[in-house]
Amino acid sequence: MQTRSRAVVVTGASSGIGWGTAKVLCARGVRVFGSVRRQADADRLAAEFGAAFTPLIFDITDEAAVHRGATQAAAALGNTTLFGLVNNAGIAAPGPLLHQPIAEFRYQLEVNLVAQLTVTQAFAPLLGADLARQGQPGRIINISSVGGKIGAPFVGAYVAAKHGLEGMSESLRRELMLYGIDVIVIGPGAIATPIWDKAEKLDLSPYEKTGYGPIVAKVRDYMMAQGRHGFPPERVGELVWHALTTPHPRTRYALVPGKFMNWVLPRVLPQRLLDRTLAKQLGLRREPTGRSRVTGHRHATGDLGGAGPGRATGERIHRCQRISHPLGVFAIKSHSDLDHRRGGPQCYTALAIGALMAFEQVPLLRITPVPKSVFTPTAAPFSYRTDIDSVEY
Ligand SMILES: NC(=O)c1ccc[n+]([C@@H]2O[C@H](COP(=O)([O-])OP(=O)(O)OC[C@H]3O[C@@H](n4cnc5c(N)ncnc54)[C@H](OP(=O)(O)O)[C@@H]3O)[C@@H](O)[C@H]2O)c1
Repeated sequence: MQTRSRAVVVTGASSGIGWGTAKVLCARGVRVFGSVRRQADADRLAAEFGAAFTPLIFDITDEAAVHRGATQAAAALGNTTLFGLVNNAGIAAPGPLLHQPIAEFRYQLEVNLVAQLTVTQAFAPLLGADLARQGQPGRIINISSVGGKIGAPFVGAYVAAKHGLEGMSESLRRELMLYGIDVIVIGPGAIATPIWDKAEKLDLSPYEKTGYGPIVAKVRDYMMAQGRHGFPPERVGELVWHALTTPHPRTRYALVPGKFMNWVLPRVLPQRLLDRTLAKQLGLRREPTGRSRVTGHRHATGDLGGAGPGRATGERIHRCQRISHPLGVFAIKSHSDLDHRRGGPQCYTALAIGALMAFEQVPLLRITPVPKSVFTPTAAPFSYRTDIDSVEY
């Protein structure tokens, strides 16, 4: 057991990942300075974790309050360095970017990006940027997200902030080499925390009358379900402990439930393919007439195309690949330029199946082989339409 000479600041310790991290670190013999916003939370956590836990009360967007918190920690530390800073506090403000109020977008960036630097600046001297302090320089752990690398729709503000945090972390890691302070990113997938309950309570009714109306609630319900079945927050706490103590930490850790589907595959698939898969799953597409349409039908009829002018020929549609797979029979049409550029339909099909497994959920997309005769060209030269239910979810 380590002594309490190791001290770590954890922001947003009142619940979720911050709470789980404080719990793990206290159990490992670390002295934890946990930031909270309410006295009631300070009292609750002090009672739960005992003498190992010292609450610091500040809102991370309040620069003066953050610096007061750092002064309080400095007084408790004496002349020694801080072992670590875990930038965890954050919020999620979902909504379609086209309609999200700018004030909300700005606040998301303020909390999840700008304030992370405010906290970092305030505590950096304690981590070793103040060379007069005794002891090894500390490490900064920035809690990002899968959204720090992958841009899911309807969480664009959050994704923007987390992408920003990842970029900032990289620059910071290199800049802080001057002081020997390391910067490590942890990008969790779904973790079962109150962030999901908070998201559920958000009023999304302003989006109901937009083109995204039918889909926003659907996406939220899907995310809620995923989130509530995520890893427990202590799993992140254990990883934080590892990142703080291992002699040779990685620069980034991904802790993602269903890692292959939710992290590996979306990162290796061609982006356009991912777009199309997501669009199909969510029912995001533009009709050939120029009208936008959001569908949620189990049986999708209509536009099977997507090829450009002059390319959507019956002959090409006919080049469907029929694939037998343990989870079903697939036929992936192979008439886009992408197929031909990337090594042909076989390659495209294999990738498509992977994408579908990730995003369509089982049962996978089942496209029954479609005879040429059922396709009739529409007036628009961009696609073909069929009136049979040949595409099933
Ligand atoms: N849960 C997930 O699936 C997941 C996945 C990937 C990444 N993350 C990231 O993990 C971090 C923690 O999220 P969580 O899931 O643990 O959510 P959570 O349970 O809602 O906890 C968020 C924490 O941040 C604090 N906080 C929010 N705004 C703050 C502000 N302006 N100033 C100070 N503290 C503030 C909250 O304090 P109050 O109690 O005072 O509001 C709370 O302690 C976030 O950065 C989030 O983006 C979460």
